[in-house]
Amino acid sequence: MAASQAFDWRMPVALRFGSGCSGTLADELGQSRALVLAFEPAGPLGLRAAWTAGLGARLLDWVTVPEGLSTLALARQLSARTWPLLTAQPGAVLLALGGGSVLDLAKLLRSVPAEGGFEAVAAALRGTAPWPPLHHAPLWLVPTTAGTGSEVTRWATLWDTDGPVAVKRSFDEPWGFAERAFVDPVLTLSAPAALTRDTALDSFAHALEALWNRHANPVSDALAVQAARRVRAHLAGVLEAPSQLPGREQLALAALEAGLAFAQTRTALAHALSYALTLEQGVPHGLAVAAWLPTACRLAAGRDARVDAALEAVFGVKALAAPAALQQWLQGLGVPCDPADHGVSDAEARVHAALASARGRNFIGAPA
Ligand SMILES: [Fe+2]
Repeated sequence: MAASQAFDWRMPVALRFGSGCSGTLADELGQSRALVLAFEPAGPLGLRAAWTAGLGARLLDWVTVPEGLSTLALARQLSARTWPLLTAQPGAVLLALGGGSVLDLAKLLRSVPAEGGFEAVAAALRGTAPWPPLHHAPLWLVPTTAGTGSEVTRWATLWDTDGPVAVKRSFDEPWGFAERAFVDPVLTLSAPAALTRDTALDSFAHALEALWNRHANPVSDALAVQAARRVRAHLAGVLEAPSQLPGREQLALAALEAGLAFAQTRTALAHALSYALTLEQGVPHGLAVAAWLPTACRLAAGRDARVDAALEAVFGVKALAAPAALQQWLQGLGVPCDPADHGVSDAEARVHAALASARGRNFIGAPA
């Protein structure tokens, strides 16, 4: 299947990219007030002090998000503090600073229900009720990792840990898009090695999943190939010299390119397969997706001339040799790249089931 030459492209997020660009935020706000939702390290890193000084009287509140997964329980707890403020200050910007979990939480918290409180929102997330009428506060996102692409997508994941078994809940709505995003590679300098590697693998996976995707188009292909090549070229160097800004800039750019591509195509087979590893074994998202990438690559290669050309451009070998090249690269980074490495003994059955899922059906190798 060739990528369609006729396609839609929707990207309403106004982007600013560049080292130091988050420093322009306070000016950009003008007279608007801001409620900051920030990752925990913002305090020790000095970001809280700098932003608090920059925002001055415009800062409504500084809400710290504890490290860990974005859960419904956490959103419920934070909403008790953020929603009254956003309701009392119409027009105030919800400004989120952090990794994908913080940005995803912010996408939900910017939406204040007119009635029913948090439980009405929770019911909609669980799919048991339609969304209540929502008021959406302006949302500005400032990622501190080079990975999720959350700053340019309209979806978010929240883990529902209220019941005896944790369940992944996602929403994918037009109001999930932020108004603005500031991608500042300087903010990624503080990311520890494992986080740097795992988030880079996530953006690499977003690029590949955008390529072997039924919704690909020539523009998403160009961005995805570029993103994947960039991660391959620069990740090892950044892990060796994490304080060097040029490499960090390349990974941040790659994450943004991959984000822009998969914001249009969405994810595919490797993501569909990854969630069980995260849910059942706590494997970080980037590692969980990476474990399934060679499997998906083997199923994708040799099937479609467009995808084969893209794989050749990414890996510099013939498409049928791409899965081995991918595996070799992951092994060189010390990344387990076989589901069996995580104790999975029923990979084939899992692939079969995943191909029938919503994400799996995006995969070019899924049955039509
Ligand atoms: Fe991902």
